[in-house]
Amino acid sequence: MSDNNEILSVKHIYKVFGPDPKTAMDMLRQGANKDEIFKKTGHVVGVFDATFSVKRGEIFVIMGLSGSGKSTMVRLFNRLIEPTSGSIHLNGREITGLSDKALLDVRRKGMAMVFQSFALMPHMSVLENTAFGLEISGVPASERHARAREALSQVGLAAHENSYPHQLSGGMQQRVGLARALANDPDILLMDEAFSALDPLIRSEMQGELIKLQAEQQRTIIFISHDIEEAIRIGHRIAIMEGGRVVQIGTPQELISQPANEYVRTFFKGFDSSRILRAGDIAKLDPETVCRVNGKAPQLNSGVPFNYLVDEHNQLLGVVESHSVIEDRCRVHEQQPIYTDTPLHEVLSLAANLPYPVPVLDRNGALAGTLSKSQLLQTLSRN
Ligand SMILES: Nc1ncnc2c1ncn2[C@@H]1O[C@H](COP(=O)(O)OP(=O)(O)OP(=O)(O)O)[C@@H](O)[C@H]1O
Ligand SMILES: [Mg+2]
Repeated sequence: MSDNNEILSVKHIYKVFGPDPKTAMDMLRQGANKDEIFKKTGHVVGVFDATFSVKRGEIFVIMGLSGSGKSTMVRLFNRLIEPTSGSIHLNGREITGLSDKALLDVRRKGMAMVFQSFALMPHMSVLENTAFGLEISGVPASERHARAREALSQVGLAAHENSYPHQLSGGMQQRVGLARALANDPDILLMDEAFSALDPLIRSEMQGELIKLQAEQQRTIIFISHDIEEAIRIGHRIAIMEGGRVVQIGTPQELISQPANEYVRTFFKGFDSSRILRAGDIAKLDPETVCRVNGKAPQLNSGVPFNYLVDEHNQLLGVVESHSVIEDRCRVHEQQPIYTDTPLHEVLSLAANLPYPVPVLDRNGALAGTLSKSQLLQTLSRN
């Protein structure tokens, strides 16, 4: 079963470092954890039973504390490290168990890696450095230079092809590293802490460039980071690793609003979640509070404080205090509409001033849910 939307899928992947991984694997199957195994056998569990897939065209961020297994995971993807157990499929094709020659092909065209250290050849020009991988692959000079120039223009370095690495800033050197990976036109770009060595301003600029590049090319990017700000900024989805396990995968909004455990929650401590959560992430639709008006007098539900009147297309007509008998207590909701994708920080002052929970509309103007002051406070105080 291969979903065309999935570019990479891993199933029950384990990596145990040490001379006798079998014993450690047996212990793992019997429920031992990473620490016990290390104490008893000296083996290190790098990755523990990971199963997930990466979607075509997404930026998939892997995040976790130092030693949690992020680098091991991506090295398993391009088989720089052999898995102890489990399978990996790239474009529906199993890459665990490929011959060395087929594997070289996967590394060349399937996935290209951008490292933290720039790893440029000091005696080669920017153009030669960019074309270096292609040269190793035996691509003729004219073609590899054309492809390298194309890649350099994608990262904004077209004017520097004749410069040498020592003439470039750190950010520019990392762009060359990126161009070298892009010149291979890989299905997946693997980036292991690629921006961590850059100073904050340049780093932020590179993040912006990567987002732009990905939007233009729809290239799949797997990006390792231990920085939550970076992960949230660039990641469509984030996988959180803890002690070799993938403990949760989700959009930044999902991770913030429903962290799977305390470890995930701590990543977001001190992070202003009202900047990335949207009204739709926490709005709830309680059918009890919705009153459909279709010609007849509305049948209010007096069991809830407020009724949200909607027409047959779910468009909001007004909000009624349920206990009122007088029709004109109906409040026509005249506020600037709050949509499911409105950031929470834009909802705060409205929520504070409205006597009823804020109605949240989908992009067709239909009532998608409501958001109360207490829901907002609970969500925002959690972090
Ligand atoms: N070749 C190896 N031999 C033995 N143990 C290893 C090897 N490579 C990694 N490990 C161990 O596997 C675990 C995961 O390491 P990994 O490098 O994947 O972590 P990481 O999440 O990338 O950390 P960092 O953020 O510091 O880069 C660690 O406990 C590490 O000591
Ligand atoms: Mg690492």
